Amino acid sequence: MDKKVTVVGAGNVGATAAQRLAEKELCDVVLVDIIDGLPQGKALDLAEAAPIEKHDAHPTGSNDYTASANSDIVIITAGIPRKPGMSRDDLLSTNAKIMKNVTQQVVEHSPDAVLIIVSNPLDAMCHVAYETSGFPKNRVIGMAGVLDSARFRTFIAMELDVSVENTTAFVLGGHGDTMVPLPRYSTVAGIPITELLPKERIDALVERTANGGAEIVKLLKTGSAFYAPASAAVEMAESILKDRKKILPCAVYLEGEYGFNDLFIGVPVKLGANGVEEIIEITLTAEEKAALEKSADAVRELKELLKKLS
Ligand code: NAI
Ligand code: 2OP
Repeated sequence: MDKKVTVVGAGNVGATAAQRLAEKELCDVVLVDIIDGLPQGKALDLAEAAPIEKHDAHPTGSNDYTASANSDIVIITAGIPRKPGMSRDDLLSTNAKIMKNVTQQVVEHSPDAVLIIVSNPLDAMCHVAYETSGFPKNRVIGMAGVLDSARFRTFIAMELDVSVENTTAFVLGGHGDTMVPLPRYSTVAGIPITELLPKERIDALVERTANGGAEIVKLLKTGSAFYAPASAAVEMAESILKDRKKILPCAVYLEGEYGFNDLFIGVPVKLGANGVEEIIEITLTAEEKAALEKSADAVRELKELLKKLS
């Protein structure tokens, strides 16, 4: 195929993302992982499904980045996932080392790629990838808002017994407990949910969204969510590969937008062939702005911690 996407980390999120990329026939797919045999085995399994799923995505797997050369997009899911009782932030030190090592190798082989970062703690890992890669800010993008918004949409649809397709939602801020779901900008068939639901029900959905990752961790016990995270990363990749220019909430490097500087945080952006093509600034109420400030403080704290660790 004329596009190539490498997924680093052939674990739950990575392998599922590779499957979705292949089955949507968006690109050739390369899986890279540090574990001998894992990316090779999963890629071969995916390739053997191809005649039935009817795609020519030629999945391949490797422990070596040579196979990833000249990728259009590299999705980085390498790292350790959250276990029960562990916060995303506990992952900081281990995953920062992994992210630095992975990014160095990715950049060496795919200097023009767009990076989609998935590993947690997400916003901090975006900083590591941005600083290590030396890529321009439009080519380093964090996946969190698309997932968090999809969760909010799911809960809105469940609450109102409507199709998920009728729903839209925006969740801004960092990918943590301080994320900022925006009910005013969340709709069912274009109608803001603030017109459809009482405040206490909206508050409950907002809280469930903010704890959406932890809810799955508690149920799975041995890992964290991967179907919806993989779908979210692939929606971003598709918008870039097909230059669809979708407006999606993503973690991007801000230089003055929303009043933040030198900070990765989730805001609405336009994703096209050049990666982040526009950062969209929406009007926030004083309360929403304060919530975003609080979320930004949480990201800044991790950023400071990263500095101390390095
Ligand atoms: P997983 O444990 O199933 O897979 C991670 C894979 O990374 C493993 O196969 C492991 O061998 C590999 N890996 C570790 N070090 C590596 C290295 N140096 N080079 C290449 N591969 C390496 O974990 P899962 O569930 O796939 O999650 C992956 C990451 O994504 C975690 O950090 C998790 O917290 C994060 N995540 C983030 C989400 C978000 O919204 N941003 C949503 C879901 C997960
Ligand atoms: C999630 O939100 C673990 O960050 C991951 O599911």
